Amino acid sequence: MRACEPGTSGFDQWNPDHYLEQYYGRVEADEAATLDFITRACRRVAVPGRALVFGIGPTVHHMLPLAPHVRELHVADYLESNLDHVRRWLKRDPLAHDWRPFARHVLCCEGVHAPTDQQVGAREALVRARVTQCLRGDAGCESPMASVALGSYDMVLSCYCAESATGDWYEWRRYLHNIVRLLAPGGLFITAALRRCKAYCVGHRRFACADIDEHDLAAVLQASGFAPAQMHFEVQTVGLRERLGYDSIVLATARASPTGDRSGPPAARGALPSQPRPQVLPSAGPARSKLPGS
Ligand SMILES: C[S@@+](CC[C@H](N)C(=O)[O-])C[C@H]1O[C@@H](n2cnc3c(N)ncnc32)[C@H](O)[C@@H]1O
Repeated sequence: MRACEPGTSGFDQWNPDHYLEQYYGRVEADEAATLDFITRACRRVAVPGRALVFGIGPTVHHMLPLAPHVRELHVADYLESNLDHVRRWLKRDPLAHDWRPFARHVLCCEGVHAPTDQQVGAREALVRARVTQCLRGDAGCESPMASVALGSYDMVLSCYCAESATGDWYEWRRYLHNIVRLLAPGGLFITAALRRCKAYCVGHRRFACADIDEHDLAAVLQASGFAPAQMHFEVQTVGLRERLGYDSIVLATARASPTGDRSGPPAARGALPSQPRPQVLPSAGPARSKLPGS
């Protein structure tokens, strides 16, 4: 791995190939935990609907556990160069990244003992069949995808996006708020975030990270209108600080109120109430924890 330069870069310096090489050459501990979490979260889906994977990057693996539980999948990212990698995989381009080890891992999470190549291929085919749109999205916009109305999705999955897109805590808060506004009343939000990480490296570039934890996440979701009883949080220690820049991740689900009003559901219409940054707690967290409603 190349040494990471001091200072942080903007996303105009982002290299999707370096990202895939560094983070997705194998199923790392954080991704093993994330895929297991998404698999478990999907068991809560009663009726398959329309799902969005926001901030997908050049990856496809988070769609692998979703595909059996949704009718249609849209994907979005800030960078066309990332979406090109997704499109390449969707078109079965032989130069596309190999996600088969991730599909195998997901099948194991679902209880399949020693998945066969055929089962892996079938899951990949299901993802390809479900994806109908690859769209540009900007979490900094109140309406993050120009062509999509707020409140459009029965499920929004956004992993390592909002906190990995900015080093500014207030901006992170705004990004996350804008992302959850895409969720329809009664919809399910699933997320994963780097925990207490100030920067991560991609190739020799360093990207700023918002240094958040489960308390920050709970506060923003609550301010965005989710009822505490409808949120679930897990903290997973992954021990990757030396190699990748973080020791733990936060995994969360939040269910929007079915009525879509402001007394519990996501603030699909409203602005985020102002809030001072909470005091940063000691960095060592439990391997697993639940926040409001635990
Ligand atoms: C660390 S990557 C995560 C990619 C992928 N979700 C994963 O788990 O590997 C962060 C992603 O956030 C995207 N991003 C950066 N700024 C953004 C913005 N303003 N709106 C939406 N996505 C953004 C980047 O293009 C990049 O794909």
